[in-house]
Amino acid sequence: MNADLRYTFAMRTLHWLIFLLALFAVSAIEVHDLFPKGSLARTILFEIHQSAGLSVFALMVLRLLARLVTNIPPPVPGPRLLQRIAGLTHGILYLLMFAMPVLGVLAVAWAGEPIEAIGMTLPLFLGKNDGLALLAKDIHESGATLVYIFVGLHAAAALWHQFVMKDGVLRRML
Ligand code: HEM
Ligand code: HEM
Repeated sequence: MNADLRYTFAMRTLHWLIFLLALFAVSAIEVHDLFPKGSLARTILFEIHQSAGLSVFALMVLRLLARLVTNIPPPVPGPRLLQRIAGLTHGILYLLMFAMPVLGVLAVAWAGEPIEAIGMTLPLFLGKNDGLALLAKDIHESGATLVYIFVGLHAAAALWHQFVMKDGVLRRML
């Protein structure tokens, strides 16, 4: 494949790092449900969730900057409608990866709890508000469903290209 048609090293590295961290965040919070409230394991898994989620946010900032300053390959050749759907899905994924950490932080801060992440306790910066905490948590949890749907569709499309169409699209990101 023509090297010009691959994403840059920075974009490829950030894509897969963010994928792994998001997977880590989701796995930690799903497993945390198996432990009783107040248990050490549940607390540690929630801390891992917050740390991985905040790392996603930090790397998304770098990724957005990398996207703005590096060359992005042109859309995969094909019907214009499919190119639009792929572009829209990528936009939604950007939005979700920024919005999920922000909503998570708001949910914790409005609940009047400190953010426990990356071995640090981040100070509270918002007043306690149970109504807003619940709202942020509800939107965060609905957002999680959207993450599953859009990452699922996106990964299925990548695998369809790789194994059915065999057109090398996955290699643009490897
Ligand atoms: C990419 C980033 C993130 C993703 C994909 C994500 C995903 C999720 C998922 C899948 C759940 C479980 C939803 C459910 O059980 O219905 C959840 C719950 C939650 N997340 Fe996140 N999250 C992210 C970042 C964060 C961050 C940075 C924080 C806070 C600093 C946070 C705080 C929370 C809270 C408070 C809950 C509810 C936990 C509970 O009470 O059961 N999340 N998140
Ligand atoms: C948290 C999970 C994921 C997110 C948020 C995500 C997000 C994105 C975004 C936004 C792009 C467009 C390039 C850019 O502007 O950055 C992209 C491209 C790509 N992703 Fe993902 N992705 C995820 C997981 C995956 C997985 C699991 C696969 C493979 C199974 C995959 C394969 C690809 C490929 C092949 C491209 C290049 C598509 C093209 O050139 O049009 N991604 N991804």
